[in-house]
Amino acid sequence: MRLNVLLLACLAAALSSAVVLSAPHMWSKLILTHHWPNTFCSMEKCHLNISYWAVHGLWPDKGIDCNSSWHFNSSQIEDLLPDMKKSWPDLLDPSSSSFWKYEWHKHGTCAAKAASLNSQYKYFSKALELYHKVDLNSILKKYDIVPSEKYYTYSQIEGVIENVYGIKPKIQCAHPSKNADAQILGQIEICFDADFALLDCEKRVTVGTFSKGGFGDQRDVAKGSGFIVCDHNIPIYYPSHP
Ligand SMILES: *[C@@H]1O[C@H](CO)[C@@H](O)[C@H](O)[C@H]1NC(C)=O
Ligand SMILES: *[C@@H]1O[C@H](CO)[C@@H](O)[C@H](O)[C@H]1NC(C)=O
Ligand SMILES: *[C@@H]1O[C@H](CO)[C@@H](O)[C@H](O)[C@H]1NC(C)=O
Repeated sequence: MRLNVLLLACLAAALSSAVVLSAPHMWSKLILTHHWPNTFCSMEKCHLNISYWAVHGLWPDKGIDCNSSWHFNSSQIEDLLPDMKKSWPDLLDPSSSSFWKYEWHKHGTCAAKAASLNSQYKYFSKALELYHKVDLNSILKKYDIVPSEKYYTYSQIEGVIENVYGIKPKIQCAHPSKNADAQILGQIEICFDADFALLDCEKRVTVGTFSKGGFGDQRDVAKGSGFIVCDHNIPIYYPSHP
């Protein structure tokens, strides 16, 4: 009897330390989502006309709105603002900070569970750092993936990213309309592990299901015109204007 109690106590201790070690509330993957403004702006009313891949967000794979009392405060990222405006612009309202506020509340407060991202400055500066390090605009151009009236295949685009970074991205397109001959390139996600090393986006690093709505953003699905993973067998249109 005594022994059983002891065994149970040991088992409980072992289990709880296992839970602590795997930290189920903690994210294990970060998704750097780039969007192509010309595609986004063909669906939404934009007030900015740019033709380069811009940051949509930096999303941990777990958690949404993790701390509603941690308010966005742009004066904490003052010296990042010039780069934020260029690299992470609000296409709908370029002079406001509402996009960053939205992303901070929805995703940043969850990313902030890691000590490496536990301030607004750390979160936004890391997103910018990863965006510049990945430098998607340059590598696509370098391998002749440029906006064009001719179509690309899924594997052409994926192949460039795989060759350069050694990982698989997630490539998303706007829904092709019923009789369209192509889908429209919309977003490219590049993934990182908790140490900010590149990671295959298709690799499931956590057990169980992701939080509801974990990958999407309200802005994606506005007017029902969200992005979906591109179909591997349908040509891809990379538009040079909205
Ligand atoms: C957007 O910019 C491009 C190139 O700078 C230009 O050709 C195009 O007319 C502009 N479109 C709008 C809607 O202003
Ligand atoms: C939420 O954010 C506030 C403000 O930064 C902080 O004081 C509090 O500790 C945070 N709560 C959790 C659970 O992280
Ligand atoms: C925003 O951050 C600045 C700089 O840290 C601080 O002085 C200010 O009080 C903060 N504002 C609010 C509303 O928390």
